[in-house]
Amino acid sequence: MSVVPYKDKEGSKREQVAEMFDTISPKYDFLNHLLSGGIDIYWRKRAIKLLRKEQPKIILDIATGTGDFAIEALALKPEKIVGVDISEGMLEVGRQKIQKIGKQHIIELRSGDSESLPFADNYFDAVIVSFGVRNFENLLAGLTDMQRVMRPGGTCVVVEFSKPKSFPFKQVYNFYFKHILPLIGKMVSKDTSAYTYLPESVQAFPDGDDFLSIYQKAGFINTKCIPLTFGICSIYVGRK
Ligand SMILES: C[S@@+](CC[C@H](N)C(=O)[O-])C[C@H]1O[C@@H](n2cnc3c(N)ncnc32)[C@H](O)[C@@H]1O
Repeated sequence: MSVVPYKDKEGSKREQVAEMFDTISPKYDFLNHLLSGGIDIYWRKRAIKLLRKEQPKIILDIATGTGDFAIEALALKPEKIVGVDISEGMLEVGRQKIQKIGKQHIIELRSGDSESLPFADNYFDAVIVSFGVRNFENLLAGLTDMQRVMRPGGTCVVVEFSKPKSFPFKQVYNFYFKHILPLIGKMVSKDTSAYTYLPESVQAFPDGDDFLSIYQKAGFINTKCIPLTFGICSIYVGRK
């Protein structure tokens, strides 16, 4: 059984995830930085640095949401960044941010599902995704399509929450993640489920070596996992 945001409602995981992000989109950025103490910004920066040597010119940001990872990727000075997402609410917040910084000629945000990407094979120099893959309805199908649209020699960088393993950090973190974070999230976002879904979906997500084996099944090679911040978050790098 896959973890869905609204257990009492009908609808596929994809539909429920899109509905949930539409609902929380006005508060998403604020809550992200508040609940992570701003460390999410560092995680995205760290991931983008991994692409510095390659200088990819055309980048695809999957599950772009409000565009934070795409905006971070501007540091690579690419010609074009395309961000796709299934939540129109998140995309709209993202478009306004991009307009504000005057980068709409480089970053284009559009509707798109990771499992059936509206792009030709081998098109992008790099594919990136932060905090998106955990929400896919079918992880293998999503990763396989990401691999399809990336050119041979290209690099894929995935950032996702993972489960810390060491005592006592694991215990303290789990208490915060399962009890405090959902309370604050519910109060600010007014969505009853979104911040309960967050720890539940992280718990159910195949992290570390389990993720790497699905990554490889999707066709990525030279894969590696880089754990960050006591293993709360991991970066997964894969090539084609
Ligand atoms: C936690 S947000 C991450 C947004 C952004 N990447 C960031 O780092 O802040 C997850 C996003 O994944 C999107 N998403 C979930 N499943 C998707 C799919 N199958 N295809 C495209 N986007 C998807 C959601 O709509 C949501 O905007």
